Amino acid sequence: MKKLVVLSGAGMSAESGIKTFRDHDGLWENHDVTQVASPEGWAADPHLVLEFYNQRRKQLYETRPNEGHVGLAELENFFDVHVITQNIDDLHEQAGSSKVLHLHGELKKVRSTVDESLVYELEGWQLNWGDKCEKGSQLRPHIVWFGEAVPAIEPAIELTQQADIFVVVGTSLNVYPAAGLLNYVSRGVPIYLIDPAQPMFTPSSNITFIQEKATTGVKKLINMLKPQQ
Ligand code: APR
Repeated sequence: MKKLVVLSGAGMSAESGIKTFRDHDGLWENHDVTQVASPEGWAADPHLVLEFYNQRRKQLYETRPNEGHVGLAELENFFDVHVITQNIDDLHEQAGSSKVLHLHGELKKVRSTVDESLVYELEGWQLNWGDKCEKGSQLRPHIVWFGEAVPAIEPAIELTQQADIFVVVGTSLNVYPAAGLLNYVSRGVPIYLIDPAQPMFTPSSNITFIQEKATTGVKKLINMLKPQQ
């Protein structure tokens, strides 16, 4: 089976009702990202940060995968599909994708503030001040904040290098190191970009631009890939 690697971003989940980041004046759900998604923000006001992610988590429990997520999961019938996502939701998993690598963390998990290897599934949507890890320190969202290392980038680079087909869905490719993954795609490997916005790439023989939303774009992708199974 050919290895098909997907890099997804916020646009993937937009039609499920989760807002993207950069279409809103740099504000994320009415917050300055540095307030809610940085170690400095956490140090300044952990209560605000906890409440912000609690609201995102609550919203996620009310959200369903869209046809784009489902289409990518169905591609597992024909390809060895690996999803690398910048999204902190679990909509790829809910849709049935079996190999999902989260670059920026996972909303439904929390971790220790003294030992980052202590990661827990959170029951329900609320993480509160005073909720502690087994070593007695406050738990924080299991999210990669701005300025923090991205430990999953190494396996993501490896997957990208091994891809026979590379698909990008719904990311503005503004945030590194995720945006740099495209540089690791092997020469000659076909790249498909699905995004309703104007392409930011000059056309080249191996890049196919599908200027569509994720739901209709993934459908078109599946039709294009059928002959290549
Ligand atoms: N389907 C597909 N793409 C869409 C849709 C849609 N329905 N709606 C919008 N888009 C596209 C936009 O045109 C844009 O190119 O999705 C992209 C969203 O870009 P960003 O908001 O910048 O999101 P993303 O690239 O995922 O951001 C990367 O930045 O804030 C951090 O950690 C956060 O993971 C996030 C990272």
